[in-house]
Formats: sequence, C-alpha cells, structure tokens
Amino acid sequence: MLKFVPTPTKNAREGFKLVHISDPHLSNLDNVSWQQLINKRILGYLSWRYSRRYIHRLDILTALIQDLDTARAHHLIISGDLTHIGTPAECMQVSAWLEKLGSATDISVVPGNHDTYVEADNSQTIDLWSDYIDSDTDANRQTDETTFPSLRQRGPVAIIGLSTAVPTAPFFATGRLGHAQIERLAQLLLHTGEQGLFRVVVLHHGPLADSNKFRKRLMDSAQFRSVIKAHGAELILHGHGHHPVKGILETANAAIPVIGAASASLLSGSEIKRAGYNIYEVNTTASGWKLQFQSRSYDEDTAAFKIREELEFDLPASVLS
Ligand SMILES: [Fe+2]
Ligand SMILES: [Fe+2]
Repeated sequence: MLKFVPTPTKNAREGFKLVHISDPHLSNLDNVSWQQLINKRILGYLSWRYSRRYIHRLDILTALIQDLDTARAHHLIISGDLTHIGTPAECMQVSAWLEKLGSATDISVVPGNHDTYVEADNSQTIDLWSDYIDSDTDANRQTDETTFPSLRQRGPVAIIGLSTAVPTAPFFATGRLGHAQIERLAQLLLHTGEQGLFRVVVLHHGPLADSNKFRKRLMDSAQFRSVIKAHGAELILHGHGHHPVKGILETANAAIPVIGAASASLLSGSEIKRAGYNIYEVNTTASGWKLQFQSRSYDEDTAAFKIREELEFDLPASVLS
C-alpha cells in the first residue's frame, strides 16, 4: 500500500513503534518559473537539473513507503528536506504527497534547510504542511507566533519537533535553532520528563560537534547539547547528512542515542549513502526504558528494503535524566 497505515493500537504504552525517514527531496522542478530562480535558488536548480533529479528517485521512496507495512509502526517522523529549493510549487507538491501518505495525526514533520532555501513567505511554503507540524493542542502552541518547538504526544512518547531550517548564503547549508527555541526546548524537556514520557527530539541538522562539515553545521549545536545535558532526552533524531549516523550524547545520567537517518530516496553505489530509514520500538523496564532499533536500507538488486543493522539501548527513566 502506498500509504502509511499506523498499526491500530496507537495508544499502546508498551511496544510503541516509531519509524523515521528523512531527506526524501521528493519534489520536481520541471515547471519552475525563471522568476522564482532568484539568488541562491538558481544554484539549487542547476544542481537538481544536472544531478539531484537522477539520484533522488521517487521509485525508491515508493519502495520505502511500501516497506513501512512490515514495520507495523504507530507513528511516522519525517525530519526535513522534502523539497530541493523550497519554492511554493514544490511545497504544494509535498503537501499533496503528505495528504496521500496519511493522516496528520499519524505523521510528524520538521523542515530542513532545502525547505527554507531562501527568504520566502512561509504561508506559501512550509506552512502548507502545518497540519503535520503543529503541536497537539493550542496550549502547546507558542504564544509568540513561532511554531517550534512543537509537542505531540503519542502513547508513551513525547515528540518534540525543532526547526533548524534558516535561509543561508550560497554554498552554505548551515542550520540554526536560535535562543528562543532553545529556551523553550528546555521547558518542554523538563515538563515532559516530569510526566515520565519517552522524549524524542527531532531536528534536521545533526547536533553533535562532529555531525556535519563546517559549511553544513548546526551553528548553535553547543547550546542545544547544553540543554540536553541539563534536562535529558531519551532519543535524538536527525537527517541532513544523507547517510546513517549513530552517535551518543553523554549526560550525567545517560548515554542518549543520537541517530541520523539516510536519505529516503537516494540511489547510490556507495553502501553508506544508499537510501534507508529507521524503526524504533519503545518499552518500559524496571529501571527505565528499552529502545530497540532497526535500520533498513535499499537493495538495488531486489528494488526493496532489507535489514541493515539492529541494536538495543537501555535508558534510565526520563525523570532521572
Ligand atoms: Fe537533504
Ligand atoms: Fe539538509
């Protein structure tokens, strides 16, 4: 089925399953107008025309969506870069794709740097996906008209969505959270930790010191890590690198997994770069949480996804982090 259908026990406290995909870069620029190719967008357009259109493949993304049936997951997370250069037309394509993919209740999205490629009127671009981005309730929405951090609770999991997506100069793909978002993140981590929820923080850029090359880095990653060290989290998910990443953020009480997903659509001869996605199962234990992780990657010979790696993490109870 070309749709994400959540497994029915969506309020299960035990065995709650998440799937995480990233960087599908699924839009098409065939009909882009030259007026829209201002500033940096012309460079992104040329990159798409001569390279990206051939390596980010819709047939691979479609095979991934079909493979999601095997995961029997309760919720799907998409960590940005759904477009190439973030034009209104691309964002409309993504909006239509999301609506076909499934309900905004079952799918959570944060934007990536390609979705905010240049300064734009958000109401014509990423706000078209707001049903898939916004917090569960008005109480969780931000009073200062910013959307992020978003907070969605599903089963025992608090999904905290951040935006690192800011327009940057040509040849840069950096990200920034900003002081207000980081401050609000601290409050949400504290609040959801006190509720004993399994806190999943989702952002596009990798937040570890060595996550990205200089021109692709998260500018305020040190401030992000300080907040996580102070208030804890159980899992940090990101994309951006187009290859699988397994990192750890050490805090006083825990070793928090920091997991980067491969691109959901990339055709590559390199094993590390080939398309992939990740599945997580969350269970409680006497001392906290058990997190089971499975990474799946695209096999060009069979045009299907298969297991790449499986791991388990034991994490302390949220309130102790
Ligand atoms: Fe990307
Ligand atoms: Fe990116």
